[in-house]
Amino acid sequence: MPETALSQRVPTPAPFILFFVLLFSSTVIGQPVQPAITLRLDVPGHAVSPKLYGLMTEEINYSYEGGLYGELIRNRAFKNNPTAPDNWSLVEDGGAGGSISLDHQEPVNEALPVSLRLDAENAGTRIGIANTGYWGIPVRPKTAYSVSFYAKAKKAAVLAVSIESKDGATVYARAESPAIGTGWQQYQLVLATADGVTPTAETRFVIATKEAGTVWFSQVSLFPPTYHNTPNGNRSDIMQLLAEMKPAFLRFPGGNYLEGDYFSTRFDWKATIGPVELRPGHPSPWGYRSTDGMGLYEFLKWCEDLKMEPLLAVFAGYTLKGDHLEDPAYLQPFIADALDEIEYVMGDASTKWGAKRARDGHPAPFAMTYVEIGNEDGFDRSGSYEKRFNQFAKAIRAKYPALKIISTTGGKNDWLSARNPLPKETPDLVDEHFYRNSIEMQEMATLYDHYDRSGPKVFVGEWASREGFPTTNLNAALGDAAFLTGLERNSDLVLMSCYAPLFVNVNPGGMQWKSDLIGYNTLNSYGSPSYHVQKMFSNYVGDETVTIDAKDLPTQVKKPNAKDSAKGIQPSTIPAMFFSATRDTKTGKIYLKAVNATPVAQNVAIAFGGGGKIVPQGTAVTLRSDSPEDTNTITEPGKIVPVTQSLKGLGRNFHQSFPAWSVTVIEMQQVR
Ligand code: AHR
Repeated sequence: MPETALSQRVPTPAPFILFFVLLFSSTVIGQPVQPAITLRLDVPGHAVSPKLYGLMTEEINYSYEGGLYGELIRNRAFKNNPTAPDNWSLVEDGGAGGSISLDHQEPVNEALPVSLRLDAENAGTRIGIANTGYWGIPVRPKTAYSVSFYAKAKKAAVLAVSIESKDGATVYARAESPAIGTGWQQYQLVLATADGVTPTAETRFVIATKEAGTVWFSQVSLFPPTYHNTPNGNRSDIMQLLAEMKPAFLRFPGGNYLEGDYFSTRFDWKATIGPVELRPGHPSPWGYRSTDGMGLYEFLKWCEDLKMEPLLAVFAGYTLKGDHLEDPAYLQPFIADALDEIEYVMGDASTKWGAKRARDGHPAPFAMTYVEIGNEDGFDRSGSYEKRFNQFAKAIRAKYPALKIISTTGGKNDWLSARNPLPKETPDLVDEHFYRNSIEMQEMATLYDHYDRSGPKVFVGEWASREGFPTTNLNAALGDAAFLTGLERNSDLVLMSCYAPLFVNVNPGGMQWKSDLIGYNTLNSYGSPSYHVQKMFSNYVGDETVTIDAKDLPTQVKKPNAKDSAKGIQPSTIPAMFFSATRDTKTGKIYLKAVNATPVAQNVAIAFGGGGKIVPQGTAVTLRSDSPEDTNTITEPGKIVPVTQSLKGLGRNFHQSFPAWSVTVIEMQQVR
């Protein structure tokens, strides 16, 4: 049999290696047995769900505020703290003297009830207000920033707007407003940096005057160029990372963020649409306030930009602190609200809410197949979910019979989802969530192999191997990849999956949830090894599964965690290699995915059952590193990235070496 080998470096032989070989080879000591797999092209596969790989998002870890949403001013409407203008400071240059304060007496409108008042007793060379942004303002060369703000003054004054170094010594961009009048008015300016500026976030944004007097400010906004130059749009580098994942759908707006701590702080979608200056914003359950600049319309535009279908989670009458509505009469307004929300997404422009969407800029309805009712209602210990679900599902189905409805309880594998029974108004899918460590996720690679297929389909709506932070390490990625082989193999049942959380701002204080997929600071962003696994799985996938027979796979011992130990659960032996394969029925391409969770390279005998010729040339895409604890960081974003190389010598029988701690996709071509 010809042998192909990845020219990746594997750990150098050492006494250790022999130990590991003995430990991980599937064998009798001294007689290593070679792992072998057969791709059964002679056995009918099933269709791979076209929606298997998607995204899950919510406001957590500064996902939008200080993240994907392009706004650069932090606390732009001065609502983050009712008693002080957080993130704002007074600039007093050249002997200036004055003060800033929150003013509740000069509202712009109901959504902007507070303003920032600058009292300049003595203007010196200048006096003004400064904002430090979300850990600085990103300065890049030759870049045009859009500024807008509401202002009024006791006495007409010209304002100078600038992006400058923290100490004001270097000015990167500067522009002047016309003289500010005595009534509220919005001013718009452009700030442009010069060619050759060195990128930096050691910066601040300043609006200043040379006149003594009083000026009020409200909704102060600064945007860099956004993805596709969309007004009120998204940060381009992060959108690019997402685009490369080729996601099929976006589950939004949560997560806990959908529910809120209280009814008053839920994701109240009607307060998130229309002009941003009319959106009041709200506190998020993750400890900071959302401007709702990323509102329902922006979520939908995000979907459109990345060719994803929206998967809308509607608020279902239960909040994180346990408030819930059981009485059908009290729940009814929330059902009406959900129906309006669905109409905003998919109603045509002749409907009431479809017309509002058209007013907001999108006359054409958005295509949508799935609606989820609530989030993690297993936490509702009152048991009210079943009644709530039934009431919502009936109403939605009556108006939108084609929509598929997802329940957050009734799953079989996830303790939280399984805590409550499957609702009587049977859901089309049940949502199961799994946050585990790497070896637990590896064990779960077979979770859906024997799942009862007579009930609803499954949506794995949140999951992750949680190792490493702020973003996950290679070991987590191995757990993720192992789990994904199981989802791919069972994608007749598991129609959709999405990892969570998607984002983390890696600046100090940015993270509320450890182990996230994509990290960023003010200037840069990067994908974790788990991100690269997601990308490899969704980029290299066919439309039909290929059954794999495997034998003599290496194994590993899974120790019980503390909780399981206490229950008397003993260590178990589980596989340490995982495979899945799919083929493209149109092109004849075959994608074999292999996860080697052992610390040594594994040479695997690969054979085909049926299916004609296999072209000798192929490609291997491999993600690996020298240690499972290795990771990518904001300063070393490319330490672990997929490496593509050509393979020769493929055929109906060949050998392939899979490096230690690696995830590999082999792309092959079948010729009939
Ligand atoms: O992904 C983080 C949180 O985990 C989500 O907000 C919630 O749904 C789950 O408990």
